[in-house]
Amino acid sequence: MPFMSELVIDGHRIGVLFSEAEIAARVKVIAAEIAARKPSNLLVVPVLKGSFIFAADLIRAMHHAGLSPEVDFMILSSYRTSTKSSGQVNVLRDIETDVKGRDVLLIDDILESGRTLAFAKDLLAARGAKCTYTAVLLHKPGHLAADISADFQGFECPDKFVVGYGMDMAHQFRELPFVGYVVPKQ
Ligand code: IMP
Ligand code: MG
Repeated sequence: MPFMSELVIDGHRIGVLFSEAEIAARVKVIAAEIAARKPSNLLVVPVLKGSFIFAADLIRAMHHAGLSPEVDFMILSSYRTSTKSSGQVNVLRDIETDVKGRDVLLIDDILESGRTLAFAKDLLAARGAKCTYTAVLLHKPGHLAADISADFQGFECPDKFVVGYGMDMAHQFRELPFVGYVVPKQ
């Protein structure tokens, strides 16, 4: 396939930001970084929906890095009007696992205001998690509204609305194997 830096899907122009190969290489490095912390009795909690592909790849890379975590899922929604976050976080689906005394790794797609991850981290701390690590694919700097930073991070993300590799714009574009940005229509 020829190299394409931009493609048109459903009438939207999508620019490629991070390619499949770049993402795969970062995921491997992050898995090694997590393994180096030697987490004990680790529970991995992908924060759905946007993190599902990153989490699927990272969890398998963690296996290759020698880890054997349990996995449970949480669905959080931070209410958004199209592409802006409102600040309120709701639990749409909670984990079924007891986190008391355990190391937990939260996985999310993007750290932007930080409200989503801060909310999830506080929730797990209140339930007695021993240590809660956070891994995000992307960090969009300049929007932090909560006191949080990711322990493990894929890439710094430019201030654009991104899609693909699990992330959506109104539930579209999750299937793209790369991270792209939507070129705003004139
Ligand atoms: P925050 O850190 O609580 O502001 O929320 C980050 C969440 O907002 C992420 O988990 C994404 O679900 C969503 N989000 C933020 N920026 C984007 C974007 O550019 N594309 C798609 N989703 C985004
Ligand atoms: Mg999300």
